[in-house]
Amino acid sequence: MREGVSVLTDCESAQLDARVLMKFVTGFDDASLILRGADEMPPEDETAFLKLIARRAANEPVAYITGVREFWSLDFRVTPDVLIPRADSECLIDAVLKRRDPSKPWTVLDLGVGSGCLLCALLHEMPSARGFGVDRSQAALSVAKDNAARLGLGARAFFVAGDWASGIEARFDIIIANPPYIPAGERPELPADVSDFEPSDALFSGADGFDAYSEILHAAPRLLAPDGLFILEAGDGQSTRLRDMVSEALPGARTTIVNDLKGLPRGVLAEGKTFTEKD
Ligand SMILES: C[S@@+](CC[C@H](N)C(=O)[O-])C[C@H]1O[C@@H](n2cnc3c(N)ncnc32)[C@H](O)[C@@H]1O
Repeated sequence: MREGVSVLTDCESAQLDARVLMKFVTGFDDASLILRGADEMPPEDETAFLKLIARRAANEPVAYITGVREFWSLDFRVTPDVLIPRADSECLIDAVLKRRDPSKPWTVLDLGVGSGCLLCALLHEMPSARGFGVDRSQAALSVAKDNAARLGLGARAFFVAGDWASGIEARFDIIIANPPYIPAGERPELPADVSDFEPSDALFSGADGFDAYSEILHAAPRLLAPDGLFILEAGDGQSTRLRDMVSEALPGARTTIVNDLKGLPRGVLAEGKTFTEKD
């Protein structure tokens, strides 16, 4: 572990990353790692561990190395075809669950479903709900479908390839989306483990980061069921403008800015009105 941490000099989360990779190689949990910390490590495990450390030192995200990331206390399989689920996005799930009785048979639409983390977390908490996940990436859809099946949600989760809501005719009780929202020009400012490894289609959205929001909001009035709930994740510094865009797209809806666990604005939520195509 010490040797691994010493290699990860440029990595802010060196201790944590080395521990996760050590657990991955040995199959130990945290308790075993402490209890057996003084044991001699089998040479093949040591070689395997140091190889993974070298990949991390070359900026590869830990979740792509281990192939798994926890979200909403559920394990999601991740590949380089999908954005790694972020803990910050859990506040969107929390905001929906605070406002909708989880026992009801809601229909849920997740636009830009990626790994399926948002849709699966909601379906996991809402045992009678059914959900639809849309993504432009076929590879992402197959990861999302696999995650839904692994979590026992396969019978209630459906996945469709598409350009946002272009092929969708139905209305939904709950619409959730974490679209790409980083301005294209900000690529050089991103950490290398994001810009060099996560899919560009999951990160960037036009010159100011608002292209995907505009397209999704254009479709929102025809997609939202009467008294439906609509929630979008917002990037840093985007929530006020995004709330204005949501109010314009869904006039008369009550809009709320949703904060993440750090108390920072992370989403915009709208609810409380029946929309027609004309809205
Ligand atoms: C920021 S990721 C979010 C993934 C997942 N929902 C999450 O929160 O971790 C955005 C997703 O939108 C998808 N996407 C990008 N452009 C799209 C489009 N025009 N139509 C449908 N999906 C799109 C990407 O492939 C990516 O999976």
